[in-house]
Amino acid sequence: MALNTTNPTTTASWKKLKNHFENLQNASMVTMFKEDASRANQFHIQWNDFLVDYSKNIINQETMDLLVELANETQLKDAITKYFDGDSINQTENRAVLHTALRSPASANIKFEGENVIPEIFEVKDKIKSFTNEVVNGYRKGYTGKAFTDVVNIGIGGSDLGPAMVVEALQYYKNHLDVHFVSNVDGDHVNEIIKKLNPETTLFVIVSKTFTTQETLTNSETIRKWFLQSASKEDVAKHFVAVSTNIKNVTEFGINESNVFPMWDWVGGRFSLWSAVGLSISLAVGFDNFDKLLKGANQMDDHFKNESFDNNIPVVLALLSIWYNNFFGAESEAIIPYTQYLQKLAPYLQQGIMESNGKSVGRDGKPVNYQTGTIIWGEPGTNSQHAFFQLIHQGTKLIPTDFIGFVKPLNGDKDHHDKLMSNFFAQTEALLNGKTAAQVQAEFDKQGVSPEKAAFLLPFKVFSGNKPTNTLLIQQLTPENLGSLIALYEHKIFVQGIIWNIFSYDQWGVELGKQLATSILNEINAEKINNHDSSTTFLLSHFLKNK
Ligand code: F6P
Repeated sequence: MALNTTNPTTTASWKKLKNHFENLQNASMVTMFKEDASRANQFHIQWNDFLVDYSKNIINQETMDLLVELANETQLKDAITKYFDGDSINQTENRAVLHTALRSPASANIKFEGENVIPEIFEVKDKIKSFTNEVVNGYRKGYTGKAFTDVVNIGIGGSDLGPAMVVEALQYYKNHLDVHFVSNVDGDHVNEIIKKLNPETTLFVIVSKTFTTQETLTNSETIRKWFLQSASKEDVAKHFVAVSTNIKNVTEFGINESNVFPMWDWVGGRFSLWSAVGLSISLAVGFDNFDKLLKGANQMDDHFKNESFDNNIPVVLALLSIWYNNFFGAESEAIIPYTQYLQKLAPYLQQGIMESNGKSVGRDGKPVNYQTGTIIWGEPGTNSQHAFFQLIHQGTKLIPTDFIGFVKPLNGDKDHHDKLMSNFFAQTEALLNGKTAAQVQAEFDKQGVSPEKAAFLLPFKVFSGNKPTNTLLIQQLTPENLGSLIALYEHKIFVQGIIWNIFSYDQWGVELGKQLATSILNEINAEKINNHDSSTTFLLSHFLKNK
């Protein structure tokens, strides 16, 4: 059954939210905290290892009630059922969206076109498990009989970002295998990686759902050519495995069918790390940790499916994001993890969020008359504090920010962790409270700053505060908690797409550039420029003349 096509701006709750916004837009969070000492108690969710404090937002109970009303009016509950039940909610590609099935327990019964998909999923999981164990334990060997030391994941977009982010995030749990990622069609990327490799001891995992992606096929060809400089054609089967839905193209490339890890059309690229696309994760941290990642995601799925909207982490975070995006006019959101391990979280979520919700046509086929997808950016704290936090604190733009921190460090360094976390807490407090002119003046008085200097400097040292933040305080960066965190953002994407009345699971917007690149490549090869706008012609002729 199709998803509903309600334009959210036509709902009664949207109109109420508009009026409510008029009253609340200039509200001071500091005042709200002063008036209600139990605010943090009211606006937080505690679930498993997660404490989510969303009290530092420009909201009151009425805001949250109206936002939940909006979710109800846009039939979110019904959409969640369709999502988990495998309905074809990716209507423009006529596909189900079932990445949640990949992390369901063996006892689940999830039907796609009348067939339970769980046995097939577990068959592939078993294959991932035994392959991982053979490689990690050194039983599977390269063409000269040596065990593998290095793994190279060749893929791009969802076939790269998820595995690369998780392998980096779970570095603490890693085994001896060195895992590399080649994604960009830029030859310098692949050549720099090749320099680090010994063909005798390197395993290549080609990840491409379609097995037609230019970047991945080009990099795979380059690597195969390099490999064949020292090995024979028959050895390719020992060193190359693939993850794809396109078995025909994979075998044509020379990969043994037994070395193909299948995936399914109902797994979107940017939601695929839970499938065999996560093979390099399993190789890097072992199958048990990969499985724990899946279990954590499954727990978040249950929370999202069963919890009431007002106590549901993905729903609440999605609603808050809509509040700022559609009523305050905020354009972007920052995601700041206070752990270096999550340095690739923001780039990963950029694809997840922006490829999914960067849409301007509603599910009714009409252009939307409101804002959709938020711009996502971020870097770990404390580094980001010394880079772009100035703009969040004192710039002209409103940037709602998620702060993600962990109670316990992994390497147990108390001194570092306490310093890190004091920054974590200090930033959201500073963004909330700001610093008044009176406070700045009091500091000047204490420091004995001259009245002339104080009068000049004072306006620059004032912080307006009232900047919204969510704090996600998680017990520790374990595979389970990382799985839950990723699934949280996946469901946030879903909720926003449903309310914005857009299709979150297609990505037609990436096609045009691909088409043009193909015809421009033909022109470059033929050294003959066809019809273009004058700027493109001008640039192409400069390139051809000087290359
Ligand atoms: O950029 C478009 C896209 O289709 C992404 O959605 C996908 O993750 C990526 O390309 C890679 O696709 P494939 O896995 O088919 O090579």
